[in-house]
Amino acid sequence: MISEKGFVLENGTELPFLGFGTWLVKEEKIILDALASGYRHIDTARKYENEKMVGNALRQCGIPRRELFLTSKVWKTDLGYDKTMASFEASLKDLQVQYLDLFLIHWPLPFPGADWKPLVTESWRALERLYDEGAVRAIGVCNFLPQHLLHVLKTANTVPMIDQFEFHPGYPQYETLQFCQSRGIQAEAWSPLGRGRLLEDPLVLELAKKYGKSPAQICLRFCLQNNVLPLPKSSAPERMKANLDIFDFEIEQEDIYRLLTMPRQAGRGFIRSILNKVESRLSTYLDR
Ligand code: A2P
Repeated sequence: MISEKGFVLENGTELPFLGFGTWLVKEEKIILDALASGYRHIDTARKYENEKMVGNALRQCGIPRRELFLTSKVWKTDLGYDKTMASFEASLKDLQVQYLDLFLIHWPLPFPGADWKPLVTESWRALERLYDEGAVRAIGVCNFLPQHLLHVLKTANTVPMIDQFEFHPGYPQYETLQFCQSRGIQAEAWSPLGRGRLLEDPLVLELAKKYGKSPAQICLRFCLQNNVLPLPKSSAPERMKANLDIFDFEIEQEDIYRLLTMPRQAGRGFIRSILNKVESRLSTYLDR
């Protein structure tokens, strides 16, 4: 669902149309620049090892906590009920906050071949408890393909509200997107610019010229028009601001289709998703 200000989750929680991704961000100045540029939604994770730095920036910025939307994630080595709870507490401590707006399971597979199902079930139980207790405003998952989501849905009391996965022209993971949208799960895009590689793609460049916008703005608008919330990263204030300036144009449907079906351009998530598929086929075979 969409309101004037942003996306609205199934439980009514509102979040801004775009968020700021912080993977590999190590400097407080970058977070402060992002906040000064207008971002109010900051996406971090235990795995990024930058929660203390993000917390310091949030404390300094002077923006009231209730105006910020803060996400963190439990890493795959901390799956299971107790470890997920401990990871959440460590995130709160490092981020120096009393609650998170969104808490996600970062990755469904601890390692290829692992028995992920009971671990994910237990972690989800922990997230449900945190949600029920009001320690988080929303809960969800990250890098979950439909088979992982179906597993969670089998036993969940609370349906995941978000799935964050790699999504951009050339790698829209359309089956996962459609699955999420059919279940009311909001999709978020990590690496919506394909880690910057898409910005020199001939089709993206052609459309940038046609619409009088930058290649990055085409990729981010493509997310919004597919109802996906993009989490771009940038270290430069002028690019941070430009990435928010995507509300004064509309990409025609035909061009959206061209971006959806252009040749594959996938990052590390592609290799991981192949491993996930192999793992899931193997486990289906072994379960027989
Ligand atoms: P920089 O930090 O120099 O701005 P993604 O979010 O898909 O992972 O992509 C991040 C990469 O895209 C970073 O290398 C970032 O470089 C670059 N980037 C972000 N915004 C823009 C933009 N508006 N124009 C060009 N490059 C950008």
